[in-house]
Amino acid sequence: MMRMFEGLQPTAAMLLLLCAGCSGGGEASNSVDKTAKTPPVSFDTRLPLKMVMEHIITPAAFGVWGASGYELSEKGERDLAPRTDAEWEQVVNHAATLQESMNLLLLPGRVRDESWPGYVGAVSGVATRMLAAAEAHDEKTLARSGDELVEACEACHSAYQMPAAKYQRPDSHR
Ligand code: HEC
Repeated sequence: MMRMFEGLQPTAAMLLLLCAGCSGGGEASNSVDKTAKTPPVSFDTRLPLKMVMEHIITPAAFGVWGASGYELSEKGERDLAPRTDAEWEQVVNHAATLQESMNLLLLPGRVRDESWPGYVGAVSGVATRMLAAAEAHDEKTLARSGDELVEACEACHSAYQMPAAKYQRPDSHR
């Protein structure tokens, strides 16, 4: 059977044909019972919000801030934009982590009131834009969304009276 395809790249269509041939037909190959109930899950939310902020969300935010805009120092300004594919890939990692980590704030027990999800959504929206910008190696959008991210984090902090932010974005402008 395989000899037939020697030297050929199997295409998706070929694989489908092969599959249809070997499964013995449609329904039987579908082993997932869609009528089965989703088993109950319990989320582990023992990590205090403070820890989630400090050890999960902040490192991801710094990962994207560290690559957006310019850093000002006595020596002048330094462009923070990634230079190599590997550096861009790091930003993709951080932006994806940031976007996904917003779900942690929506787990049962973490939502404080009906305004909470809106603040979470604002950060996750910026993270989504940063992710797309990093994938497209788009420095301008990345720099602009760095500022939007500061605002989105701070909007929630001021709404929930988080005492003076214990984080600082690298001093920068664009
Ligand atoms: C939905 C609301 C919300 C969003 C969005 C949010 N935070 Fe927070 N954050 C809080 C609250 C509430 C606290 C205070 C937690 C506590 O001390 O119990 C906090 C605390 C913190 C702290 C202090 C942790 C400590 O050591 O005391 C840092 C740092 C932080 N957030 C970073 C961020 C960053 C960076 C972002 C954006 C990428 C962000 N937060 C987005 C609600 C939010």
